[in-house]
Amino acid sequence: MSRISESSNVSNLFSPSMINMVVGVFDFVISLMMIFKINLYLSLVVVIMLPFYVVLSVYFSSRIKKSVTQMNEDSAIMAGGVFETINSIEEIKILDLKTIQMNKVEKLSKIVKESIVNMNRNLNFYFENFSFMSAFIGTGILYLSGLLIIDHAFTIGSYIAFTGYLSRILGNLQVYSTAGITIQPILVSIRRIQEFLGYGDEGDERDRNLIGGIEKIEFINVSFNYADKREVIRNFNQTIIKGETILILGSNGSGKSTLIKLLLGLYNPSDGQIMLNDVDLTKIKLNDLREKIGVVSQNIHLFKGTILDNILLGSDDSKLSYLNKLIKDYNLDVFLNFENKLDTEIGNGGSNLSGGQKQLIGFLRALVLQKEILILDEPTSALDTAVKECVIDIIKNRSIANITIIISHDPSFYFIDNKIYMNKNFEGMVAK
Ligand SMILES: Nc1ncnc2c1ncn2[C@@H]1O[C@H](COP(=O)(O)OP(=O)(O)O)[C@@H](O)[C@H]1O
Ligand SMILES: [Mg+2]
Repeated sequence: MSRISESSNVSNLFSPSMINMVVGVFDFVISLMMIFKINLYLSLVVVIMLPFYVVLSVYFSSRIKKSVTQMNEDSAIMAGGVFETINSIEEIKILDLKTIQMNKVEKLSKIVKESIVNMNRNLNFYFENFSFMSAFIGTGILYLSGLLIIDHAFTIGSYIAFTGYLSRILGNLQVYSTAGITIQPILVSIRRIQEFLGYGDEGDERDRNLIGGIEKIEFINVSFNYADKREVIRNFNQTIIKGETILILGSNGSGKSTLIKLLLGLYNPSDGQIMLNDVDLTKIKLNDLREKIGVVSQNIHLFKGTILDNILLGSDDSKLSYLNKLIKDYNLDVFLNFENKLDTEIGNGGSNLSGGQKQLIGFLRALVLQKEILILDEPTSALDTAVKECVIDIIKNRSIANITIIISHDPSFYFIDNKIYMNKNFEGMVAK
């Protein structure tokens, strides 16, 4: 959330102060040339002092960068905390967690407050130091010019002209260093927004296209661990070929959903390979991959808009006729009997729908997109018997994808012959 507001930081890049900076380059160069013309000796003194300015800027900009990053991270965590509180207000009331949750948010806001103070301390310290340096140079030049004037080697007029140019030089330097400081938060924001959008870590070395239909998926000795290093999947081997429907079984936390995330390219295997048509999945362009794979995930996200918008997701009219046919063939309108049918508005995140209604909409959305590979992660967990039977009927009798992968504990799916067990001890628990 906070990264969205940070995007306004980026617009500062185009602000008038940036234009002043460009003009300032000329001002700075011309002023420097002029002081050399007025007096070589005094100019050398000025030039010797300038590196101190640079060192000061470099030192402080790294400190400021660190404190701005910290402040952004802390604000993001706090925004997350507030977001969580707002989103789970019903659970908080039911579980009587009001005090605990408020303490949590309060603690987070304290951390943010401290990091803002720290950032401002760095900024102010920097500006104060800068003013001190400028005053120091100004006084030095006044003293040296005085000596020269007494010796009749310099005139008062030249001194006035010299300090006039000097103040332009220092002023411009200050603009630059200040801009360095203004740019730091912008650069940090750009990096964080890029991270959020997944640039950099997604798709960097992916240059292979997935041409033609998917004939074969092969998991070869695939192992995977999340950042905490605990191995979630170990030496997983499986080949799935076009036309197959497979059922993945395993206890909670055995890595079923993780396996799907690997197939979608959300993470790369820590070891081993996943091959699609004999091409290493980590090399395939993500757009190509996701164009061919449809998912009904465990957490279905619905957007603000009508039910129809949420099923079609902007796809064309041919998908609409496919949807209408599906609804007619399987009498689905019984289950979609909302006041305005498919034109019913959905609240944010589907707040006005039941878990089962959301799951059905997620299922229809995946079908309508008509992908080559369809993955259904616990697709019937929230459905009542009637809707479930209907969904299973569709999976059984309609060719919904070239390869269908279903994760479910529901015995209604045991009719699928191709069963994959994510953990060995689970195998004995399921009657084949
Ligand atoms: N994003 C994540 N970061 C760290 N650990 C995770 C993450 N997602 C899942 N896990 C852990 O990985 C294991 C497998 O999770 P998952 O694949 O969702 O299991 P399943 O779908 O079989 O119930 C669990 O122990 C879970 O806690
Ligand atoms: Mg799961």
